[in-house]
Amino acid sequence: MERTLAILKPDCLRKNLIGAVIKQIEESGFKIISMKLVRLTKAEAEGFYEVHRGRPFFEDLTVFMSSGACVPIVLEKENAVADFRKLIGATDPAEADEGTVRKLYADSKGENIVHGSDSVENGKIEIAYFFPGSELARMTA
Ligand code: CMP
Repeated sequence: MERTLAILKPDCLRKNLIGAVIKQIEESGFKIISMKLVRLTKAEAEGFYEVHRGRPFFEDLTVFMSSGACVPIVLEKENAVADFRKLIGATDPAEADEGTVRKLYADSKGENIVHGSDSVENGKIEIAYFFPGSELARMTA
């Protein structure tokens, strides 16, 4: 079964939307394999978004992602990566389809409520960034 990494970003927590977004995720058929509440340091946020280093939005993105707690979640479903990206909508909420998480709740491209892995391969790397293999194995044993 395919897995993806979701992160409920600091704006999601500031707006008290953890429950609403998780409800939408569960109602869309995803199983939560593991989740935690963490506060990233600036360096940890930079490590997670390393592929974007050098992009014009990198500094703002990593300042924002370390500005408050966030909730990384390992999700499982058939076609999890693509289906989760469909559920959250386009990066820019102005371009996101009606009913998607970002259309419903996000303010901007930079503060867009939720992250979703963009490929199965990156999903594995991103999941490992937050959840050691041994910890995940115990969740499904
Ligand atoms: P996310 O799915 O977390 O992956 C990278 C993030 O960078 C993305 O969501 C946006 O929040 C942010 N991002 C991407 N493009 C831009 C942009 N042009 N301006 C500001 N932030 C961006």
